[in-house]
This record gives sequence, structure tokens and C-alpha cells, in this order.
Amino acid sequence: MIAALDLDRVPAHVACVMDGNGRWAQSRGLPRTEGHRAGEEALFDVVEGALDIGIDWLTVYAFSTENWRRPADEVRFLMEFNEDMLLRRRDELHQRGVRIRFVGRRDERVPKRLLGLMDDAICLTERNRRMTLSIAFNYGGRAEIVDAVRSVVSSGISPDRITEHTIARRLYDPEMPEPDLMIRTSGEYRTSNFLLWGMAYSELYFTETAWPDFRRCDLYEAIRVYQERDRRFGQLASAPNGSAVTTASVVTSNGDG
Ligand code: IPE
Ligand code: IPE
Ligand code: MG
Repeated sequence: MIAALDLDRVPAHVACVMDGNGRWAQSRGLPRTEGHRAGEEALFDVVEGALDIGIDWLTVYAFSTENWRRPADEVRFLMEFNEDMLLRRRDELHQRGVRIRFVGRRDERVPKRLLGLMDDAICLTERNRRMTLSIAFNYGGRAEIVDAVRSVVSSGISPDRITEHTIARRLYDPEMPEPDLMIRTSGEYRTSNFLLWGMAYSELYFTETAWPDFRRCDLYEAIRVYQERDRRFGQLASAPNGSAVTTASVVTSNGDG
């Protein structure tokens, strides 16, 4: 699997929509929540696989701003499960040299205990540089753009000085590179409000595999397919290395706000 990859052209940033947990469980006669539980093994296998091939940045969609519409029991389970997972796994991620970050709205619906654990994990791992694991929690791409626009307006910048860079540097994590590759599992062919701004030129990969069955070999297959793509960014020839284009490098920064 790994042998099929060009390790000099690994995507710098891979983003995953970890979808299909509920259906995976239901197809086995289990409650949906067992699918979320089973998704943990997939996530940590993918993290290990990403570390092995030198991916710099991995962003995973854990809870969307729309997921609050689910039954209260499932929402409560997801909050508690994420708290529990952070507590159990943060030290292991830290030992692996992973820097943990979060993107999303820190609103009052997210339990305080979970917000505290998020802060602890960020703090514990902030000096790590081997890979950044960015967890999208209470994340919505439209909400992120709205929040950036609010910040632009409150900065008082004059409209004619607003550029793409003005918005990009006000996203939840301005250091996040644009995803090179977005993977969505479970046979759904949509973005569901994930990283809308940054995904303008991401390569998209969809698989029928449900998230709880997804493993590093599936990640490597997605990257193999990615490496066959021709990323043109609107031009006629491929970008030189086909990877690692950041917002800052594609838009002209002219000292605007
Ligand atoms: C993804 O799996 C996890 C979250 C959205 C939290 P789902 O829970 O969406 O599973 P399906 O898509 O209903 O099978
Ligand atoms: C997207 O999956 C959100 C996460 C994986 C956290 P959903 O299951 O919520 O998306 P839709 O509802 O199928 O579009
Ligand atoms: Mg789903």
C-alpha cells in the first residue's frame, strides 16, 4: 500500500469527514452510538498512518453546527464520548509529537468540561511539530465565514481594503493550510459545510467505506488517487509540486487588514 505512494508528494493537509458511524452500527443491529465508539479505532489508525508517511496536518470533522439537530441522547453521547476520548488519548498523541488544535464555535452549548479538556490538550501539545491534528468540533464552514466577517467589520477596515487575505487571516485557525485532499467516507457525496473557505481548490475523494471500517490502508489508497490528479488552480499546467498551497500564497497580501 505505502509502496504505491510517492513519499515526496504526500499532501501536506488531509481533511476527513468521518461519516457513516450510525449506519455502520445499525447495519449490525447495534445502537448508533456504538458506531461512534467504533470510529475511535479508525481515527487513531489514520493518525498513525498519517504520521508514518509524514502528513503535516490532519483535520477531522467530529461535530458540525448542524449536528445539534440530532436527538438529545445522541448529542449528549457525542459530547461525553469526545471528553472521554480526549482524556484517554491526549498523552499518547503528545508522545507521538502531535499538536492538537480545534476549529469551531466555542458557544454555550458545548459543555464547559469539554471546553476545558480542549484547552488542556491544546496547551499540553502546543510545542509539538511532527503533525497537527485539528479537530473540527461545533464547526460549520458558513459560521466560520460569518465569524470572520464579524471580525472584519468590527476592525473598522474600509471596504476597498478588504481582500481574500483579510478573511483568511480571521478564520478559526489562520495557520491551517488549505486542505490538499478531502476524504469523505460512507458513500455521501457532499461537503456538509466542512472547511468551505479552504476547500476552494482541494481534491475530493469519496469512498463507500463507513468510517468505523476506514484504516490507514484506505488513507493510502486515497492519497494514491490524489497523486494521479492534475491540480491546475485555474492555470493550464500543474502546480510544481501539486501540494501545500496556502491561502497566503495564492492571494496577494498587500498589507491590508
Ligand atoms: C458521523 O457519522 C459522525 C457524526 C456526524 C458525529 P454519522 O453519525 O453521521 O453516521 P451516519 O451518517 O448517520 O451513518
Ligand atoms: C458531517 O456528517 C459531519 C460530521 C462528520 C461530523 P453528517 O452526517 O452530519 O452530514 P449529513 O447530514 O449527512 O450531510
Ligand atoms: Mg452522517
